[in-house]
Amino acid sequence: MVMTESVVAPKRATPIEKLPSDERVFPVAWYPVAWSKELKGKPIKRRLVGRDFVLYRDRRGQVRCLEAYCAHRGADLSLGKCVNGRLQCAYHGWEFAESGMCEHIPAHPNRPVPDFARVRAYPVREEAQLIWVYPSDAGGDAPCDKDKAPALNVFPELNDPRFVLAPYDEEWRAHLTRVVESVLDVAHLAFVHKKTIGRRVPAEIKKMQFEAAGSPDVISIHNGGGLLEYRFPQQWMLRPDSSTNAQFINYVVFSPIDSNHTRIFGFAGRTFAKHVPGMSRIFSNYSRKILREDQAVVESQHPRPIPEALRMEAHVPADAPQVRFRQRWFDFLTGDEPKVLM
Ligand code: FES
Ligand SMILES: [Fe+2]
Repeated sequence: MVMTESVVAPKRATPIEKLPSDERVFPVAWYPVAWSKELKGKPIKRRLVGRDFVLYRDRRGQVRCLEAYCAHRGADLSLGKCVNGRLQCAYHGWEFAESGMCEHIPAHPNRPVPDFARVRAYPVREEAQLIWVYPSDAGGDAPCDKDKAPALNVFPELNDPRFVLAPYDEEWRAHLTRVVESVLDVAHLAFVHKKTIGRRVPAEIKKMQFEAAGSPDVISIHNGGGLLEYRFPQQWMLRPDSSTNAQFINYVVFSPIDSNHTRIFGFAGRTFAKHVPGMSRIFSNYSRKILREDQAVVESQHPRPIPEALRMEAHVPADAPQVRFRQRWFDFLTGDEPKVLM
């Protein structure tokens, strides 16, 4: 796709023009919620798309994910523990299986467990040092078939032993859409990152190769010796444009905590200086520093999510990748792809 030369003038919305966009609607996709190492013997609670989930490890160490509040009296299940491979609530000891069904009520051990004694279960995977949850409501109130989720496809470098991956994460007070746009934005480098990655980047955008060919879910940008690749809705990777022996990559994945908070998990990966003590910490810290340079402007954006229509903000040719993202987001909002509502 070629950058358009036209400038789209902003037009402010009046209430009457409101389109069906909703800041509380998110694509159903695999989102990371925690680092694997955070989940040891004790269950933990994490928030995603405005819902609370409890994560725990069963007898075999396998990660399981249930809605966080007990079907009996709403106690927080992350206060409980794994007993007999089931998650035992801390309040009255009800035990929930990985399907979300309660299988044991200590107060009435010899009576059948009623059918309504259950919580919702969610597909969960452990991959690339992260725990990922698939927040699908498919199946209604029935116990969710935890295996009924599409494959989790992460970028291959995350499972490539040639790379050492230095992890980092941050949480921003911002809507997912604004966070995604910040990593598709080339024109901000010379301003927001003038002391770091934008130090030698000119403000003028003369040459930006931008591709949105092939899958509508992929946006690629060649810029200053790097190739950015975004995969809708949540993953982003920066690789060198050409293959060299010493490779440096940066990966981020976005997790919508709710309509106003997004957690960012990232890896700074390298194929060089792999065993130098302290090197991973330097890479993690530098990546975090760059993210923090973005944070103030992204958190300042108004309205909180991207507006409901393209015409409601001004676009210039340098914004072509973001315009492409907006079109994809609007297709999502108005189409029949799986959605999760907060
Ligand atoms: S609140 Fe969980 S067992 Fe009673
Ligand atoms: Fe940035």
